[in-house]
Amino acid sequence: MPPPFFRRLTFLLTFHLTILNPSFPPASASPSDFSIIDYDAASDLFHRDYSPPTPPAPPHPPPLSCEDLKGIGSLNTTCQLNYSLNFTNDIYVPGDGNLFILQGVVLACPSSGCSIVVNITGEFRLNPSAKIVAGSVYIEAGNATLFTGSVINSTALGGEPSIITGTPTEAQGAGGGYGGRGASCVMDNKKLPEDVWGGDAYGWDWLMEPWSYGSKGGTTSKEDDYGGKGGGRIWIQVKDSVDVSGVLLADGGDGGTKGGGGSGGSIYVKTRKMSGSGRISASGGNGFAGGGGGRVSVNAFSRHDDPTLLVHGGRSFGCPTNAGAAGTFYDAVPRRLMINNQNMSTDTDTLLLAFPNQPLWTNVYILNRARATVPLLWSRIYGALRMSVKIYLMLNSKMLINGDGDAIVATSLLEASNLVVLKGSSMIHSNANLGVHGQGSLNLTGPGDLIEAQHLVLSLFYSISVRILIIIAFFWEAVTKLVSCVYSSMV
Ligand SMILES: *[C@@H]1O[C@H](CO)[C@@H](O)[C@H](O)[C@H]1NC(C)=O
Ligand SMILES: *[C@@H]1O[C@H](CO)[C@@H](O)[C@H](O)[C@H]1NC(C)=O
Ligand SMILES: *[C@@H]1O[C@H](CO)[C@@H](O)[C@H](O)[C@H]1NC(C)=O
Ligand SMILES: *[C@@H]1O[C@H](CO)[C@@H](O)[C@H](O)[C@H]1NC(C)=O
Ligand SMILES: *[C@@H]1O[C@H](CO)[C@@H](O)[C@H](O)[C@H]1NC(C)=O
Ligand SMILES: *[C@@H]1O[C@H](CO)[C@@H](O)[C@H](O)[C@H]1NC(C)=O
Ligand SMILES: *[C@@H]1O[C@H](CO)[C@@H](O)[C@H](O)[C@H]1NC(C)=O
Ligand SMILES: *[C@@H]1O[C@H](CO)[C@@H](O)[C@H](O)[C@H]1NC(C)=O
Repeated sequence: MPPPFFRRLTFLLTFHLTILNPSFPPASASPSDFSIIDYDAASDLFHRDYSPPTPPAPPHPPPLSCEDLKGIGSLNTTCQLNYSLNFTNDIYVPGDGNLFILQGVVLACPSSGCSIVVNITGEFRLNPSAKIVAGSVYIEAGNATLFTGSVINSTALGGEPSIITGTPTEAQGAGGGYGGRGASCVMDNKKLPEDVWGGDAYGWDWLMEPWSYGSKGGTTSKEDDYGGKGGGRIWIQVKDSVDVSGVLLADGGDGGTKGGGGSGGSIYVKTRKMSGSGRISASGGNGFAGGGGGRVSVNAFSRHDDPTLLVHGGRSFGCPTNAGAAGTFYDAVPRRLMINNQNMSTDTDTLLLAFPNQPLWTNVYILNRARATVPLLWSRIYGALRMSVKIYLMLNSKMLINGDGDAIVATSLLEASNLVVLKGSSMIHSNANLGVHGQGSLNLTGPGDLIEAQHLVLSLFYSISVRILIIIAFFWEAVTKLVSCVYSSMV
């Protein structure tokens, strides 16, 4: 078997790119035919490098009672906490009733990885100005209300992540990685900007139920550690309904001008009904080079308001145009993945690895200057991109298919059963061969929209609309072998 090479597909998105309804693989193919990395050598490689272990379930510390928490009432009925408490060790609060944390009360265990676990069957309330501050916050309840002004904050309180590739090793002040890679401000003349990064991404396999800490940023000094700390993790599992009008934070720590930002941590919310327009953020920390965004997943059967959801990379003081890479936000009920860098420009990638076959994701959005990269496995049979979706929309964005200049690479294939639209100077570029086909229409809507390849094959489209002709193919290829149907019109 030939050694595995990796080809790369980069979505370089200055603004907005949408893939709707990927049907991957197409029904006619066997799953392994089309899976980018569903291949022994590759899955070994990726799984060893990127998948975190199953979330460990450490034994809980002895349960605390309402009295231990200086509260009024009982955890079997209703316990109200009216005193702020500082803990130095993990705490576990179980009960069969309600827990109300009253206005302004702070429960804190402000050390890396310290955990606060609440497991009650009744209602959990975090009143205005009340706070929980810890490295890991796990709340299981029947119902939960996080009032406006309340905060659960695990920013910069991550413990040691079980995967260590997220922390940059050299003293270059690079950002930590997790959902997205951390940035690096150190130029390498032998490499492209996107091939230089700080801490690597990990935890892809768990992005639907993330429970990893973020990673520390690197330092610029051999003596002192200036790196920002990784974000912590928040897990909220509510049987009936949760109102998030408050703030959930698992951001990476700030590294200042002498250290890389830490990467964002994990936030997971699982419930039947979710409301509230609060803020949920697992963003990378700022620093000499910014940290990568973390991972957020929301699994709410019905969602009534739109909270602000942030997983962007941190700012890079040492190289302002290269922020940390965006992390991942997975919206479980519509099964869509969003990679959004909130318009922070970056040369640093978010890695997209194996897409599940069962059930398929419906939408993948790459937004607001995020860059996503898909490592492609070279195999003798395919060796190139196979992307199969219903609708492929690009707005001011780029897709670069990099066959490493190897023109004998098999033809990459982008298949959209309904529609391909390029708008706002969007570009699909392959430095090897590319086939674009679909049963609907292909629209290049304006100046600057471009499809470019060594050999370009456009096939099957019912209509091809090009406002200003700028399809460039170095060699047009007869379309006999690939498909029976041919182009219908070229405007
Ligand atoms: C709560 O109920 C459990 C059994 O349901 C009992 O063992 C425990 O003592 C009760 N705790 C309090 C504080 O009443
Ligand atoms: C909580 O404490 C505040 C002042 O510390 C007091 O005004 C308030 O009445 C207390 N609330 C309850 C429910 O005990
Ligand atoms: C908890 O600890 C922090 C920092 O050590 C301190 O600022 C705060 O006042 C303490 N709070 C309480 C209620 O003891
Ligand atoms: C919470 O309590 C329920 C019921 O006692 C139990 O099944 C579950 O495992 C607990 N969760 C955690 C994280 O301890
Ligand atoms: C959640 O709240 C609703 C409405 O108040 C109530 O009907 C339901 O029983 C609560 N669920 C639990 C598990 O306490
Ligand atoms: C969360 O914690 C971080 C780090 O301690 C702090 O800088 C930030 O102000 C806190 N945010 C809120 C809303 O409390
Ligand atoms: C990003 O920039 C675009 C175009 O300038 C703007 O429409 C959009 O609102 C911006 N988004 C954010 C999150 O800043
Ligand atoms: C694509 O082009 C066709 C033909 O010019 C036009 O009818 C259709 O509205 C266009 N669709 C989009 C999404 O631009």
